[in-house]
Amino acid sequence: MAEDSTFAIDRALRQELESWQRAGLSHLPMPPRRPPAANPSSASVKPPTTRTPPSSRSNSRMTAPAATQFTSRPITSPQAHTLPVVSDPLPASPHAVGSLEDRQWRLNELRQRVAACIRCQELANARTQTVFGVGNPEARFLFIGEAPGADEDAQGEPFVGAAGQLLNKIIAACGLKREDIYICNILRCRPPGNRKPLPEEAGNCREWLDGQIAIVDPEFIVCWGATAAQNLMGTEESIGRLRGRSFQHGRATVLCTYHPSYLLRNPAAKKDVWEDMKLFLKQAGLPVPV
Ligand code: URA
Repeated sequence: MAEDSTFAIDRALRQELESWQRAGLSHLPMPPRRPPAANPSSASVKPPTTRTPPSSRSNSRMTAPAATQFTSRPITSPQAHTLPVVSDPLPASPHAVGSLEDRQWRLNELRQRVAACIRCQELANARTQTVFGVGNPEARFLFIGEAPGADEDAQGEPFVGAAGQLLNKIIAACGLKREDIYICNILRCRPPGNRKPLPEEAGNCREWLDGQIAIVDPEFIVCWGATAAQNLMGTEESIGRLRGRSFQHGRATVLCTYHPSYLLRNPAAKKDVWEDMKLFLKQAGLPVPV
């Protein structure tokens, strides 16, 4: 009897969380697991109100969470894959909040957690290494791809294979450099045989993506391909319908376009991507090549 009611509560809670997730909630903020007394360093950490603008950007959000020991909390119910997995917040960095050093420090903390991540057993067993992300921690532009392929798995960096070479050409055609951008993926491990990420894998990796977005705090996010766009925004709309429009994700404007791998198979779609890039450049206030 008691077991039945526990199960019913568990199911009701799960349904409630799933409805929040469908409504766009990506994760729940978790309080520190220990009382402050057990972790004296947290007492001296105050959430900052603003971050130091690195350049001409006007940045206003970013809070440093209290320092706590890292504990991953996968939810182990049968429906676990539909729920977000949330770790304790990153400790506050010793640097001025929002400074380049602060962002590098926090990205490095996150990178270490990712390197130790075994939430997706199949991927963790098969990977050579995790592929965290690369680029400018203060970038105005954050690009999101799908998942590492064989080259990325070997080199530990996103978009270094054939699709990456094409992406580099697109970046150059936009008058940008790779160093102007922060690049990451929906997944940080290569799916075997380069299959599409499973929903539970994207869910397991979501915390890392959200962390990277929060630290870099870009003005623009470009989603390369349906997997990136649909997972970031929690939509099932096709990439054909998502491209050519802009969306809001936190403070970032999101634009979507076809994945470079798709362009390698369908070169005719390059003109569409170029249209999308022109829209991106225009919205970013950058010169639009004619
Ligand atoms: N394709 C992606 O989506 N990401 C990479 O990092 C490489 C290829």
